[in-house]
Amino acid sequence: MRLGSPKSVPTYPKTVLPIAASVGGLALFLIFASLLLVYQPIGTKVSGYFYNVDQAPEIGVSSSNNKTNVFENRVNDTDIKRKIEYSSTNKTFDSGTNTTVNLVTNKTVDLDASETIDLDTKSVEIDTNKTIDLGTSKTADSGAKKIVDSGCDLYHGNWVHDPAGPLYSNNSCPVLTQMQNCQGNGRPDKDYENYRWKPTKCQLPRFDPRKFLELMRGMTLAFIGDSVARNQMESLLCMLWQAEVPVNRGNKRMQRYYFRSTSTTIIRIWSSWLVHRTTEKFDFAPEGVDKLHLDAPDETFMDVIPTTDVLVLSSGHWFAKQSVYILNNEIVGGQLWWPDNTQKKKIDSTEAFEISVATIMSSLVTNPDYQGLTVVRSYSPDHYEGGTWNTGGSCTGKVKPATDGELVESEFTNTMHDKQVSGFNRGIKKKTNKSRVAFMDITKPFSYRHDGHPGPYRSPDPNKITKRGPDGRPPPQDCLHWCMPGPVDTWNEFLLETIRRDFEARDL
Ligand SMILES: *[C@@H]1O[C@H](CO)[C@@H](O)[C@H](O)[C@H]1NC(C)=O
Ligand SMILES: *[C@@H]1O[C@H](CO)[C@@H](O)[C@H](O)[C@H]1NC(C)=O
Ligand SMILES: *[C@@H]1O[C@H](CO)[C@@H](O)[C@H](O)[C@H]1NC(C)=O
Ligand SMILES: *[C@@H]1O[C@H](CO)[C@@H](O)[C@H](O)[C@H]1NC(C)=O
Ligand SMILES: *[C@@H]1O[C@H](CO)[C@@H](O)[C@H](O)[C@H]1NC(C)=O
Ligand SMILES: *[C@@H]1O[C@H](CO)[C@@H](O)[C@H](O)[C@H]1NC(C)=O
Ligand SMILES: *[C@@H]1O[C@H](CO)[C@@H](O)[C@H](O)[C@H]1NC(C)=O
Ligand SMILES: *[C@@H]1O[C@H](CO)[C@@H](O)[C@H](O)[C@H]1NC(C)=O
Repeated sequence: MRLGSPKSVPTYPKTVLPIAASVGGLALFLIFASLLLVYQPIGTKVSGYFYNVDQAPEIGVSSSNNKTNVFENRVNDTDIKRKIEYSSTNKTFDSGTNTTVNLVTNKTVDLDASETIDLDTKSVEIDTNKTIDLGTSKTADSGAKKIVDSGCDLYHGNWVHDPAGPLYSNNSCPVLTQMQNCQGNGRPDKDYENYRWKPTKCQLPRFDPRKFLELMRGMTLAFIGDSVARNQMESLLCMLWQAEVPVNRGNKRMQRYYFRSTSTTIIRIWSSWLVHRTTEKFDFAPEGVDKLHLDAPDETFMDVIPTTDVLVLSSGHWFAKQSVYILNNEIVGGQLWWPDNTQKKKIDSTEAFEISVATIMSSLVTNPDYQGLTVVRSYSPDHYEGGTWNTGGSCTGKVKPATDGELVESEFTNTMHDKQVSGFNRGIKKKTNKSRVAFMDITKPFSYRHDGHPGPYRSPDPNKITKRGPDGRPPPQDCLHWCMPGPVDTWNEFLLETIRRDFEARDL
């Protein structure tokens, strides 16, 4: 099946095609994933320690269940082609018609004035040759400047082999989601655990749980966002667990762990998009479909913000899922949803992502009750190479980080990263001298870690398929979340260093 098109096959000309292909592929994957999840919600099962606070299913995970095949048979090519939306090209693809929709690129998002976002803009052709320079870290300006000034660029460097290995194992960490327990799920190789990130101009210290707790004495750290936020939170807990077993004070709404020795609290709250979501009918969008009010932050966690000292935000992947985009009380676009193809969408999913980031950052830096450090973790790259999750996309067989020559750039990932950076910068324009913000720019470093995902080892089922079939089909797999232990632990080394630098800068 050619539909999904390779997500990032290097032989394609470096023009718009790979972008289209990758976005189309992702969209296609998500159609399947969404359909599939209706029948087979993939919940989060953690060995008794966690309340189930994930109100939403996993994203980016294909199913090992035979129901997958049911959908492949039922959704035929025609159906799929109708639904694919090319978000990053200058055309909205619509099989059967020749409608061309120019994307609005020069929208003005003015969050400084009256919280209104002006999208009344000219359509211009998109610059398909725009290169996104990831080589020099796109660490946004701002408090970020403060951070860069007080140390080297953490995100420019390379992966080096380090036989010292991880701080914990699947056996020494009881709060590890089974889907990320790669070793426990039978992954045969282990050396992917033995790589450390080496910034070019300095050392990134190995994570020190005691140091982290001391630094965060009496403080609260909150992870807010999607399942990738959970991935990072669990990694942090696993490492801290080695120094001290925390008290579980979670409830239905949030995960919460309390470390007695330093009175440090780690919490996590689910928010798929970080902006206000409704499902009621709105204008011509029917009830049931998710509606994202891109200019309003998700209110579900706002009450927690004032008591938070460090906030880590994680979002992005849900923008590929079906939803309606609302701005200024008007429907301005939709992802995998649009009733009338003769009508232009004003924004696509990547632009919606940008606006959402601007909205949340603006609301945080202008919140008079919040003085914490806000860390935006940049878009986490997935590695469904050579296709999407069900069209031959695969990360199986990757046992070490990619070399420069092996690196497969994903235009979609680059676009999401770029949008996130601009949303961040726009959102913090209103920052005061109290605001503390940092952009944790992991996208490029982690684009090398195609070996860090569970791949087919995402369940303990001894009968799961882990090899390609005789027809070349790869097994169902997760090439989005990260194994634990694994490269995701590095995010918390970045986090510790970011917090340390911020605290030091404030002491000066
Ligand atoms: C899936 O299908 C294969 C063959 O089509 C069959 O052998 C296997 O038992 C099925 N697995 C489940 C869980 O139904
Ligand atoms: C695919 O779907 C389209 C529209 O729903 C239908 O017209 C067509 O016959 C279907 N093709 C197959 C092979 O089922
Ligand atoms: C995008 O638009 C420009 C200008 O209209 C055009 O030259 C280019 O071929 C378009 N690209 C695609 C993929 O349609
Ligand atoms: C699209 O436009 C081209 C040229 O304008 C035409 O040849 C083609 O038949 C059109 N395709 C469809 C599906 O309308
Ligand atoms: C779009 O914005 C860029 C940079 O702000 C500006 O140089 C360019 O003239 C704008 N284009 C249009 C069509 O407004
Ligand atoms: C984009 O780059 C290609 C090859 O590098 C070049 O042929 C083309 O003219 C460029 N297009 C624009 C609009 O700059
Ligand atoms: C941890 O992984 C090993 C294989 O490396 C496995 O034997 C063991 O059962 C796993 N433990 C848990 C708790 O998953
Ligand atoms: C913050 O800015 C205000 C006004 O610009 C100034 O009065 C105040 O001293 C500044 N505070 C700090 C800590 O720099």
